[in-house]
Amino acid sequence: MHTIIEPFRIKSVEPLHQTSREERERYLEEAGYNLFRIAARHILIDLLTDSGTSAMSTEQWAALMRGDESYAGSESFFRLKRAADDLTGFRHMIPTHQGRAAERILFTVMCQTGDVVPSNTHFDTTRANIEFMGARAVDLPIPEAADTQARLDFKGNMDVAAFEALIAAEGASRIPLAMLTVTNNSGGGQPVSMANIEAVKGVAARHGIPLYLDACRFAENAWFIHEREPGYAGWSPKRIAQKMFSLADGCTFSAKKDAFANIGGFLSTNDDRLAQQETNLLILTEGFPTYGGLAGRDLDAIATGLEEALDEDYLRYRIISTGYLGRHIADRGVPIVEPPGGHAIYIDAARMLPHIPPHQFPGQALAVELYRGAGIRSVEIGSVMFGAAARHELLRLAIPRRVYTQSHIDYVVEAILDLNARKQDIRGMEIVEEPLFLRHFSARFRPL
Ligand code: F0G
Repeated sequence: MHTIIEPFRIKSVEPLHQTSREERERYLEEAGYNLFRIAARHILIDLLTDSGTSAMSTEQWAALMRGDESYAGSESFFRLKRAADDLTGFRHMIPTHQGRAAERILFTVMCQTGDVVPSNTHFDTTRANIEFMGARAVDLPIPEAADTQARLDFKGNMDVAAFEALIAAEGASRIPLAMLTVTNNSGGGQPVSMANIEAVKGVAARHGIPLYLDACRFAENAWFIHEREPGYAGWSPKRIAQKMFSLADGCTFSAKKDAFANIGGFLSTNDDRLAQQETNLLILTEGFPTYGGLAGRDLDAIATGLEEALDEDYLRYRIISTGYLGRHIADRGVPIVEPPGGHAIYIDAARMLPHIPPHQFPGQALAVELYRGAGIRSVEIGSVMFGAAARHELLRLAIPRRVYTQSHIDYVVEAILDLNARKQDIRGMEIVEEPLFLRHFSARFRPL
């Protein structure tokens, strides 16, 4: 059989709410044309993020009931620890309430003013947490990643020569750690090859620099390696993931992505001294080391999710269905970041709307039109999110895991193709109210 089906059936459903175009027009106006400010009830299909929005399985719901809410030494902690140890092999696993809490603790312990932390591409919370410590977050993607149309198997890789040049320029003592984000979210959800992880590790180890994975989407990355990297076709996704982790000295992890949890994360390391300092900080802001900012039931949901994430049928469906959305719009003329990534499709809004300059926010204009026309929520990743530092003007369509069916995605395809057919009429936006921080969450816009 050639048809790829959703490898699950649906036991519990949630209604979607239809709205009229007139209603959406009003919601947009009230929200200052910022989709973060629209109530979820007024969204038909929500592709704002794949984070914390997954559907949990029957096994995860059952695990919630088994959750042990003991303050210290909870059974749920030991179940999560066994699952994480089996997968990552790191000596210490410190639970946190989500990925950015792990980042905050890691960089507080490892970074000082003037330090430099390189990555293939830092996610925005990672960058913000590094900069908050007075250190510098440096992105070193391979040069080909700058071309949204280049089709590379592993477009999320780090530029290893640039990493070596950075060490030569800054000195290894100013680089407390190096990171690899797998998959590379801000770089289009693109995977990192095992060869690249090995090469980065080799350079880092030669200079005594620990390597950390930002491992939110480790399972999707493992599947791309299985499918694309010579030598790994016969390996299970779990074995590939284990090898990825074995090359690193620690990781930050948001369980809200590949582990299908609605909340949670952890910080792992092989360094006993660091783990001690991290645990001390954990107690200050997250909680006791055996729950770290989570309920026991959350720890259990993550433990179960870590195993489900590596199921071959699931991963095949996951990556092919993301590609389905990408190919159906790209092959009909909508420019996307090629090739399709793991968790999201990114429309190149600057290329699609060349009549709208970056300072009139083509990605935001597209997000607003997609909501106005079809009730779909997406997110701008460009000059609204990054200001002058934006490298591209993208619109991200992130796909929650196990949530939407093929007909939902067909609806999204139809809506985008309809927009593409009348793209000349789409106008830019201007900001009319701008907060100092995080303007993509709260700025108000006006259509031009
Ligand atoms: N690292 C990466 C690569 C991420 O994509 C995210 C979150 C984080 C770290 C932070 O994790 O949200 O649990 O604190 N990404 C979400 C997104 C918000 O929409 O891409 P968190």
